[in-house]
Amino acid sequence: MQTTPQTADRLLGDIVTEDLRAAAVMEHFGLDYCCGGQRSLGAACQARSIDPGTVLSALEALGPAPDSDQLPSEWRELDALTRHIVDTHHRYVRTSVPAINASLDKLVGAHAARHPELAQIRGTFFVLGDELLAHMMKEETMLFPAIDEIARRLRGEPSNGPGMFATVLHPVRVMEDDHQEAGQLLAQLRTLTGGNYDPPADGCGTYRACFAELRRFESDLHRHIHLENNVLFKGALDAERLLG
Ligand SMILES: [Fe+2]
Ligand SMILES: [Fe+2]
Repeated sequence: MQTTPQTADRLLGDIVTEDLRAAAVMEHFGLDYCCGGQRSLGAACQARSIDPGTVLSALEALGPAPDSDQLPSEWRELDALTRHIVDTHHRYVRTSVPAINASLDKLVGAHAARHPELAQIRGTFFVLGDELLAHMMKEETMLFPAIDEIARRLRGEPSNGPGMFATVLHPVRVMEDDHQEAGQLLAQLRTLTGGNYDPPADGCGTYRACFAELRRFESDLHRHIHLENNVLFKGALDAERLLG
């Protein structure tokens, strides 16, 4: 059940952490709850000239959160959350990036004469995909093993050997910077696709499927970055402070 009443001074990231359905409301109003998750609802609305009352009403209209829409309790273990992120979000990025690249290649070949913005969409997505693949590799080989070690220390389990970092603060900040950059590329893609990934009226089936996948890619990446910035990294830094 949703226990915390929503007010304009609550943080966007906390609202989504408590009820994942709120992510769809944030997406609808164009509120960045992942990289911008540490901002209050009121401040985020002000930046976009939106009445916070409208967003609060939309959140209230969701009704109480059923258990399935809250952060699963097993993810409170940091190493369970790193596994979930790798198995779900990293896997999705790895499988969708080549598929979207191939589909954009096709679209540029067939439609760039009438839709010259396709070449820019392809170029921007290529950079985003490339950066994300390198970024995920850094998380999986450096930061996530260090966070898994923190989880073991919290449970009082034997260490897996000396970690690569005295504290995860620096690598966390580097990953957050990468997220910020990915967020900017996503925003560019949204603008290049007309603001909402809507295919043009003369768009073929490949066009429609590709833009629908781009929209899915955006919403998956928002959730992925939210889980890392506002849940995993925050939890790891809090745990480090606790362990001293
Ligand atoms: Fe990640
Ligand atoms: Fe990440």
